[in-house]
Amino acid sequence: MIEAKPWWKDAVVYQVYVRSFADGNGDGTGDIAGLRSRLPYLKSLGVDAIWVNPWYESPLRDGGYDVADYRSINPLFGTLDEATHLIREAGDMGLRLLVDLVPNHTSSEHRWFKEAVASPSGSSARNRYHFLPGRGPDGSLPPNDWGSVFGGPAWTRLPDDEWYLHLFDPSQPDLNWENPEVREEFEDILRFWLERGAAGFRVDVAHSLVKAPGYPDAGDEHDRHLEPPSGTQSPMWDRDDLHEIVREWRSVLDEYEDSVMIAEAWVPSWERLARYLRPGEYHQAFDFHFLVSPWEAAEIRVRTDVAISTTAGVGTVPTWVLSNHDVVRHATRYGLPQDIDSKKWLGAGDRSLLDPETGLRRARAAILLMLALPGSVYLYQGEELGLPEVHDLPVDVLDDPVWERSNHTEKGRDGCRVPIPWSKGGPSFGFGEAEPWLPQPDGWGEHSVEAQDGVEGSTLELYREAIRTRDENFHTTTIEWHDEGDDILSFKRGSGVRCIVNFGEDPVALPSGRVLISSEPLSDRSLPQDVAVWLAAEEV
Ligand code: GLC
Repeated sequence: MIEAKPWWKDAVVYQVYVRSFADGNGDGTGDIAGLRSRLPYLKSLGVDAIWVNPWYESPLRDGGYDVADYRSINPLFGTLDEATHLIREAGDMGLRLLVDLVPNHTSSEHRWFKEAVASPSGSSARNRYHFLPGRGPDGSLPPNDWGSVFGGPAWTRLPDDEWYLHLFDPSQPDLNWENPEVREEFEDILRFWLERGAAGFRVDVAHSLVKAPGYPDAGDEHDRHLEPPSGTQSPMWDRDDLHEIVREWRSVLDEYEDSVMIAEAWVPSWERLARYLRPGEYHQAFDFHFLVSPWEAAEIRVRTDVAISTTAGVGTVPTWVLSNHDVVRHATRYGLPQDIDSKKWLGAGDRSLLDPETGLRRARAAILLMLALPGSVYLYQGEELGLPEVHDLPVDVLDDPVWERSNHTEKGRDGCRVPIPWSKGGPSFGFGEAEPWLPQPDGWGEHSVEAQDGVEGSTLELYREAIRTRDENFHTTTIEWHDEGDDILSFKRGSGVRCIVNFGEDPVALPSGRVLISSEPLSDRSLPQDVAVWLAAEEV
């Protein structure tokens, strides 16, 4: 029997980094016009929805996560009218659209921050952010030991000697969520986009928002990657109080049928992540534990199992993702030795450690694995082309603030944001007419849509076929694991379809069942290393 369930529970959502997707007006920057022209492509991929990275008015110090006006579109990307048309057109084609909500911080160009800077200490304008006096006899030390995610202290001093908080770049001051005006403003922003037909929101840095009263030092034990010592909370990450805000947002969303919100919350444990998914809170939360997993059967099995059981504990299913605009593309990650930190490797790592063929082969197996799991899936633009990370961008083109803030030790995230190749040749490989805002490497056209469209065995066709086959076969949330050795992942879904992935060196014999799809061509009934297969339910 087919279970009735909300659309998002098994949706495939495609992430569009608009600046790099398609350039409609020939200025070298992707835009809404470009995206509108590529909607048929997204439809033919078979996805259910699109999540668009921030497209608002912004000085683009952090790729648009520095929002100057939440109700207008960056002129580089288009106009509000075009955005509204896009939402409507996509909707007419059966594609829902999620916008990116950035509630933890604004841009320093936002009118509120400009007003705060121009207002005196203790003013209501400053109370929308976090302003504090410094420490030390002359106040020249930051108010506490909090560090910015991008490197350096999380505080910047103004000429009048007060310091303001920014967990990210100094151009991204953190909002004060204790201030009712901030809360009202964001409820209004939610309504603004829902009224224009958006299906919901991906919520940026969903695990911050609320800061501890008194701004205590974080100390070493409150590193954002670590579980806080028992009985304590980090002063700025994943605080219990933030859930009250989430419930307020959710009650707004519940006024709009079928709308969803998904949390970007890099919290260390599944238990903490599941709290975001409790009834009355987020519909979805990215499972980053899966994304960062090494390519190992046992590790992936544990991670998927725990994700499935902890989300079931709050009455829902996981949300899987392998790449996004913040991480090294997985076709490259999987091509590096397991003990290498891909972000660090991007800096000064030994390039000879990279095996791109293995990376792509594993990425192809991984999409069959991910699409076979119960829950929803987010794809990042270009992964369906098997795009690798561009790891050799010259440093003078780097745009990510991470490069400067890390004192040139981390190259940052530009390598996964290089404009998409649509055609084999031509200016910017079909991205647009002009030189793109980030250079594309030689040979980028080999990965292009044109080079793969309709080509049997291409990664693009694998994605299309896998999404179609998934839609036809996976309608229940049940999963049954089969133990077939340390190097094999094997499970059956409620429909009876089995997914088997071989992580080991030795080929394994396939059990009976018709092959529905495999990540590489199979020459006989054996499954080679780093290959995944779906087998049809056995006939009775
Ligand atoms: C999120 C975004 C990232 C951005 C950061 C600050 O992690 O995904 O791109 O830099 O938040 O807004």
